[in-house]
Amino acid sequence: MHQRQWGPTSANAEPARFVFLRSTESKERLRPALAPLNVDKTMTAPVTVIVAYDLKFYEHLPELFPQNVGMAKLFENSPDMVETTAKRNSSLQGAYLIMAARALGLDCGPMSGFDHAKVDEEFFAAGKPCFGCDQEFFPEGHVKANFLCNLGYGDASSLRPRLARLPFNEACWLL
Ligand SMILES: Cc1cc2nc3c(=O)[nH]c(=O)nc-3n(C[C@H](O)[C@H](O)[C@H](O)COP(=O)(O)O)c2cc1C
Repeated sequence: MHQRQWGPTSANAEPARFVFLRSTESKERLRPALAPLNVDKTMTAPVTVIVAYDLKFYEHLPELFPQNVGMAKLFENSPDMVETTAKRNSSLQGAYLIMAARALGLDCGPMSGFDHAKVDEEFFAAGKPCFGCDQEFFPEGHVKANFLCNLGYGDASSLRPRLARLPFNEACWLL
């Protein structure tokens, strides 16, 4: 997945973490968290990806962003910046995943209709003691779900047509 791998993130921080649910058992763990309208399509999809972000992403910066040694410290002292950076860039990385999957001919079903607290608890040990973590800093765990994405080959006869997109002049300002 070339596009996913080389898509840019700020300070090359790569905060996204991807959990590929490939088995019925793993998707059953997700079921209680899904919004009712998202249950069937998720349970029938070959793969569901939890696109998540790690709030401790900055620990990898010495390796990922060696040209600025102060960057990790900057994040360590700024939880707000950590949160903004993790959400913005994991969303971008999720979009790169979608573009890469589509380039391979797969259909994608991104979903924000789910209970975040339940997913974080089931898959990311939210609320449990975290070895090596500062519990005051990460009381609810340090990996959190951003959105879900079903992957597979949709049945053309049951897929609805693509929806309208805002025309260029409504979505863009040229100054
Ligand atoms: C972040 C994100 C969250 C979404 N959440 C849901 C969802 O929970 N359930 C759903 O059926 N579709 C969901 N969608 C799909 C959008 O509604 C859909 O992409 C949009 O209406 C455009 O439709 P089209 O791509 O088929 O033209 C989501 C899409 C994105 C990007």
